[in-house]
Amino acid sequence: MPKSSVVFICSNCQYSSPRWQGKCPNCGQWNTLVESRVKISNSKHQISKAAEPVDLAMVDISQRAKIVSGISEFDDVLGGGFVPGSLVLLGGDPGIGKSTLALQISMRLGEKVLYVSGEESVHQIKLRSGRVSESQQLNVLAETDLDAVLASIEARSPELVVIDSIQTMYSQEASGVAGGVAQVTSAVQKIMRLAKQNHISFILIGHVTKEGYLAGPKTLEHMVDTVLYLEGERFASFRILRCVKNRFGTTNEVGVFEMQGQGLAEVKNPSQLFLGEEQMQASGNIITSVMEGSRALLLEIQALTSATNFGYPKRTTAGFDVNRLQLLTAILSKRAGLNLANQDIYINVVGGIKIDEPAADLAVALAIVSSLKEAVVADTIVVGELGLSGEVRYVPNLEKRIKEAEKLGFKKIICPRMRQGYDIKNAKIKILPVKTLQEAINLI
Ligand code: TYD
Ligand code: MG
Repeated sequence: MPKSSVVFICSNCQYSSPRWQGKCPNCGQWNTLVESRVKISNSKHQISKAAEPVDLAMVDISQRAKIVSGISEFDDVLGGGFVPGSLVLLGGDPGIGKSTLALQISMRLGEKVLYVSGEESVHQIKLRSGRVSESQQLNVLAETDLDAVLASIEARSPELVVIDSIQTMYSQEASGVAGGVAQVTSAVQKIMRLAKQNHISFILIGHVTKEGYLAGPKTLEHMVDTVLYLEGERFASFRILRCVKNRFGTTNEVGVFEMQGQGLAEVKNPSQLFLGEEQMQASGNIITSVMEGSRALLLEIQALTSATNFGYPKRTTAGFDVNRLQLLTAILSKRAGLNLANQDIYINVVGGIKIDEPAADLAVALAIVSSLKEAVVADTIVVGELGLSGEVRYVPNLEKRIKEAEKLGFKKIICPRMRQGYDIKNAKIKILPVKTLQEAINLI
């Protein structure tokens, strides 16, 4: 007879301890030790039945097509749709639109989907579905008992199941409170088994803690195939869907949505949204290109200089690092001979976006020059990192940024010198490579 004994295992680092402790002595996390039973075998020579390997060449994948929702901003982030039998974890702050997105996907796929909600009643789901879709074809289940949910899934075998949210699911067989580490881990394990056996894909909606991590154990992220985050507070009504882990595709893609009265609408051309409409007319405004995931996004930077009334000149920014501005001001004074010691400088990034890429340096510097000299810079994109000696340095993904500017009809781009092999002459946009800050200033 195998004996069993109780150990406490940290869900964060797998450290095991014979007794419960509030804090894991190994990784220092609080409340992560979970009671589990281990079987102690008393026969040392017991041999398990041998598992049988499979020849990879004989595995048939022909009828395993991906499930495509038709919401291309979402499908692209997944890498072309749901792989059958995969688990997708969708995380995000409360109220950001996780349930709305999951419901929209479900309504598109209709009968293939089972939508399980532990947070809302079927009436509430009906109300929401009326807002986001005209079609009313969807099987919904308002239930928090995980074992009942799993039985229902087995009986109906849908192609896709939405669980909203994984923290509300509760099973009698696991210990701990609903949403606790033990419950969540055990729920995902059970779901995973069912998903792989019956080739059912799952969207698991997960809550995010104050610190911005998915609530529950870190192991959760290891167990699932894909981890998506829906983010938004920086973008007002815009939502960015980002992939932080994907077993079936890249993690570079981002999807952009806008929250409207009828749910989340796809934004196909985000640059146009983030650009102010009358930006061309005023001095101090420069368009630059920043990367959001693998996508180049055009953004407008505004600078305003005004004479300091007394004392110390002010440096104020919105969406840009103040220390970086101070550095750029120093470069402008020293390397371009501008007198900024008696000028207040204000920098604003339009659209409430925060830039944390040095690729915007040159644009900010030129916006300051443009405001100071009252020179309007029209139809031009500026990208480049500035070094302390006033040199313009190469930025990653330059080709992508040029393509995006070209697509939106800009006429010129001021940028670092291109690497070998890029065809400057045949580009529709005029490429103006510069080596130094002074050269760039001369161009405007
Ligand atoms: P929800 O999907 O419930 O967020 P989560 O599941 O991530 O907590 O989204 C709720 C917010 O979205 C709520 O503040 C209302 C807003 N909303 C709209 O603006 N338009 C809509 O069509 C819907 C359904 C929601
Ligand atoms: Mg919700």
